[in-house]
Amino acid sequence: MTTERQPLIAGNWKMYKTQGEARALAREIRQGLNPGARAEVMVAPPYTALAAVAGELAGSPIRLSAQDTFWEGQGAYTGAISPVMLLDAGCHYVIVGHSERRQHFGDTNRDINRKLLAALVAGLVPILCIGETIEERQAEKTLKVVAEQLRDGLAGLPGEARERLVIAYEPVWAIGTGLTATPEQAQEVHAFIRSLLREFLGAAAETTRVLYGGSVTPDNALSLLSQGDIDGALVGGASLKSDSFLKIIAAAG
Ligand code: 13P
Repeated sequence: MTTERQPLIAGNWKMYKTQGEARALAREIRQGLNPGARAEVMVAPPYTALAAVAGELAGSPIRLSAQDTFWEGQGAYTGAISPVMLLDAGCHYVIVGHSERRQHFGDTNRDINRKLLAALVAGLVPILCIGETIEERQAEKTLKVVAEQLRDGLAGLPGEARERLVIAYEPVWAIGTGLTATPEQAQEVHAFIRSLLREFLGAAAETTRVLYGGSVTPDNALSLLSQGDIDGALVGGASLKSDSFLKIIAAAG
């Protein structure tokens, strides 16, 4: 983590929390947040709780994110939510390409690219998730897979959007498994991502935050966040309770 990149600590609540539960968690995070915290903080509740959490966080520096979006602006797409609807619900960020979307809902790199571009057009800041499976790591394909996901995900990126992106490296084998990449394993991939970003984004690569995700806890956050190219964390399980999430935020300084 270098000084010119403000760390981002992001909580992905996945398919957890009713409106009431989400409101209570958001309130606890808001009340427990140290006003001097160095990190920017974001939470991503399920769609049904976005408006409730937006209300709870109003006037606080904590930002709201959605967990996914569709790429069309509006139309006959039953069950889908557009970027403009997310903006209207109070979102600043939107996660695209999460491995659970790729795995359970069939999102391809092409779909993810369309989502990312649509999010940018609407004025949201996309958080593009990339990461290899255990089979790909064992076959030594990690860098190849990550490069492809990044290149395809960012295809056709308008020049003016280069400054409005976040990348999250989430090795699939570390998500929800309690297995974390070691700080060295994570840093190796993050440094590789940064080198690709220099190619794709030019100077903006130096200010683009690359988050690590995959079983981040209060116990391992500091060692991960101390790595030069790790600029924050995308936290699943440990973001569902305010005490563990607040400790991870504190680990960022
Ligand atoms: P866990 O922190 O539960 O491993 O989840 C990580 C994740 O998928 C965040 O998007």
